[in-house]
Amino acid sequence: ARPTINILLLYGPKLFRLVAGEPDIYGPLTLEQIVAAVVARFPQHRITHLQSNHEGVLIDRLHAAAADGTEGIVFNPGALSHSSYALADAIRSIPVPVVEVHLSNLYARAEAWRHRSVTAAACRGVISGLGAESYILGVQALG
Ligand code: DQA
Repeated sequence: ARPTINILLLYGPKLFRLVAGEPDIYGPLTLEQIVAAVVARFPQHRITHLQSNHEGVLIDRLHAAAADGTEGIVFNPGALSHSSYALADAIRSIPVPVVEVHLSNLYARAEAWRHRSVTAAACRGVISGLGAESYILGVQALG
């Protein structure tokens, strides 16, 4: 059996109402359903999650993860991916591995500003475009 690890699922702005906004791009599942799918898929792991629309809350949570036993983070920073050097620095400042995930394929998006993620450069790896499966693969990469 694979060892149990403590995983944090971290979500940035917007992703708390996926169904209400652009299901054609982000898929049919709510954030709660995605979390439930990940937890069901990895019963051996201890999985916690946090969604926040606030950059500082996300930074504080990343910092806290360095000292609370978190062993891996699956992070969808939402639109902050494209702009937040503060989140990138917070990711770099902790020893915990972070895998960035996106529901949509950033490189296939119409808006050019979505083609670049500044937070991704600070992460161990990136999974983009596979819908809820992006989160499953993110946990798998850490476990
Ligand atoms: C997203 C992609 C971002 O560009 C967007 O702002 C989101 C969702 C994704 O999961 O595909 O909020 O991170």
